[in-house]
Amino acid sequence: MRKLIAGNWKMNCLKGEGIELARDLGMRYAQENDPAFDLLICPPATLIDAVGNVIAGSGVLLGGQDCHAEPKGAHTGDIAAPMLADLGCSHVIVGHSERRQNHGEIDLVVAEKAAAAHRAGLAAIICIGETEAERDAGHALAVCTRQLAGSVPKGATADNTVIAYEPVWAIGTGRTPTAADVAEVHRHIRAELCRQMSDADRVRILYGGSVKPSNAAELMSVPNVDGALVGGASLKAEDFWAIAQACS
Ligand code: 13P
Repeated sequence: MRKLIAGNWKMNCLKGEGIELARDLGMRYAQENDPAFDLLICPPATLIDAVGNVIAGSGVLLGGQDCHAEPKGAHTGDIAAPMLADLGCSHVIVGHSERRQNHGEIDLVVAEKAAAAHRAGLAAIICIGETEAERDAGHALAVCTRQLAGSVPKGATADNTVIAYEPVWAIGTGRTPTAADVAEVHRHIRAELCRQMSDADRVRILYGGSVKPSNAAELMSVPNVDGALVGGASLKAEDFWAIAQACS
């Protein structure tokens, strides 16, 4: 399966830095002869338009980091999925653990956001993953089962849905699960998706959490790992590019 390397910039980058970073990546991707991977940038909402202009024509994809479940209305500070589509986004991240933790987003809310993304013609990158306590208690697979059942909406297909497995304890910590642990969880996710969708074998399942150039090749070679969702290392063009190169 063609891999998807996605950069989640989170709440980082003022305009100048963001444009420079996007321009660098756009140039690298445009110069790559027949790239073996899709490259996606998810900047903060303030920069989506500017980044979109900079990467136009390069083949790099654009995404949002969150969307509201409603297409418009009185929701101060929120962003609707059609607004993201309007700016040229093809993807939107929903249910990131930072949204689940800091904004109290439960599975039902995540499913509604993903459904809104689908209605707007966007692919939803639905994030799941266990906390450290849940892993220590031996519940990692059960947590993923529960989150998949609750967060993946009806109508999800391989074309409009990407799953990102991001163990919460691996995000921004420099710690990653072993390749064997990642393989176990991704195999489990694939099997669970097969119960919910007819084309589950084509759904891309990304790994996220402390992906960096030094571990990317190993993680990306794990069966059922179809790409990466990268936080910190996506803020440096050289590092993000090196991670993408690990797929080719
Ligand atoms: P880090 O790559 O900084 O660990 O973040 C991962 C992440 O949360 C991507 O969504």
